[in-house]
Amino acid sequence: MSLSPINPNDRLNITHALYAGATGSGKSVATRKMKLIKATDQVVFWDLYGQYKGGEFLGRTVRTYSTLKGFLMAVHAGRKTKQGFKIAFTPNNPPKDKSSIRKLFLEACAIVWGMGNGFHPKTLHFIAEEINRVTVSSGDEDSIYGELLEAGRKFNIMVHSVSQRLAPIPNTVISMSGYKWIGCQNLVSDVERVAKELQVKAADIMALNKLEYYFKGEGFGNVRKGKFRF
Ligand SMILES: Nc1ncnc2c1ncn2[C@@H]1O[C@H](COP(=O)(O)OP(=O)(O)OP(=O)(O)O)[C@@H](O)[C@H]1O
Ligand SMILES: [Mg+2]
Repeated sequence: MSLSPINPNDRLNITHALYAGATGSGKSVATRKMKLIKATDQVVFWDLYGQYKGGEFLGRTVRTYSTLKGFLMAVHAGRKTKQGFKIAFTPNNPPKDKSSIRKLFLEACAIVWGMGNGFHPKTLHFIAEEINRVTVSSGDEDSIYGELLEAGRKFNIMVHSVSQRLAPIPNTVISMSGYKWIGCQNLVSDVERVAKELQVKAADIMALNKLEYYFKGEGFGNVRKGKFRF
């Protein structure tokens, strides 16, 4: 099934977000704590390894579906309401090779895309975990994922891309994600991919510890340092 979003709305002011850092740096914590998503929001997850399965997000139960059809039906039903929901897609036996994983990811993206509605009272938040595992180029993301990043805004879709790496991920993700949460990094190439854009010295990014971050808001010069505490 091929679905199309409805009601393009250029008046919507939505900025996508990128969360990048080494494993354990605090990316998943950041999706909850940076206040870009509220507990009452409509949120869907690309969750290949089931980290949200049987769990919660911002205190709300996450419902996980193992088939794309089940995921589609659930999100479709949820979008017919103004109520918040947290719905994840986690396949039962996730494929191991990257091209199959990417194909599945793009099918999930197509479902999210089809749920867009520029006049819907609620933004549809799409948290895509570990996008470094489903992208193949550091250039243009020429796919429905790229389309979500470039045109999702008009249809009230906000994409939250999560990645352990920065150097290999598509330029489309970097450039279309006005919010950037940058946690501790392991590789010089990853640091260099965003240091200039953040106007933060590479050495300062390299000095970050787990749960410490730089966060860039919209526009120029809008960067602050922070640390998560529990
Ligand atoms: N509620 C909590 N209380 C205390 N520590 C926590 C809590 N939630 C997360 N942490 C800690 O925060 C750290 C970062 O966790 P998080 O899951 O956000 O990392 P991540 O960057 O998403 O890693 P990965 O790439 O492996 O998914 C972990 O060391 C974890 O133990
Ligand atoms: Mg995580």
